[in-house]
Amino acid sequence: MKLVIAKDYAEMSRLAADEFFALVASKPDCVLGLATGSTPIGLYDCLVEDYEAGKISFADVTTFNLDEYRGLDPEHNQSYHYFMNEHLFSRVDIPAQSTHVPDGANPDSDAACSDYEAGIIAAGGVDLQLLGLGHNGHIGFNEPCDHFPVDTHVVKLTERTIQANSRLFDSIDEVPREAYTMGIGTIMKARRVVLVANGADKAQTVHDAFFGPVVPQVPASALQLHPDVTVIVDEEAGALCK
Ligand code: GLP
Repeated sequence: MKLVIAKDYAEMSRLAADEFFALVASKPDCVLGLATGSTPIGLYDCLVEDYEAGKISFADVTTFNLDEYRGLDPEHNQSYHYFMNEHLFSRVDIPAQSTHVPDGANPDSDAACSDYEAGIIAAGGVDLQLLGLGHNGHIGFNEPCDHFPVDTHVVKLTERTIQANSRLFDSIDEVPREAYTMGIGTIMKARRVVLVANGADKAQTVHDAFFGPVVPQVPASALQLHPDVTVIVDEEAGALCK
């Protein structure tokens, strides 16, 4: 694992965007794994800047997002589908059919999950997976539990995640209680992983995930076993790792 401590959010975002820039420039038909949450917004802004400056094209890129709320339509303004359109897809030249987000509106959870997993395999697997980090150590929506889930699956969100994510909804009652997420196994199959985290409220989680024991109660700790992970944090989130 490589740990990079950037001086602030802007530097963290630029350094992480550079990893994606370098891959897309060297392999224009690469497969990217993408993430939502507030942390990667700066990174997506950097990639849009690069695109607008004519330095990079996403025309041949394929993307697979980590997760999606179950029961939300892609057009719902809190769906991860909507988030990705807002922050990246509608701002660059990626064809809509090359972007994939689990289908939150599909009530057949087995089909939604197995189709998604099969789609990733058919595309040749993920070259570079972006991750944020939940306060309880979750990645995607893999919540702390007693095992590492393997494939894309349905998950019941914990109270802590529902609370944390309620800031984006009109009321906490509107936050979906379930989500579709890539499994830890799906994430571990990506050839490379970049995880971003910022802010003092993530410092303990970053420390536990990357310097604590590998346990499913801290889902991100599985990444310690991945052969090519870069963790990029700002000084606040990296404060306990020095
Ligand atoms: C959500 C997402 C995660 C994300 C996490 C942290 O629960 N499912 O993929 O990493 O929140 O979000 P933030 O970056 O806003 O702290």
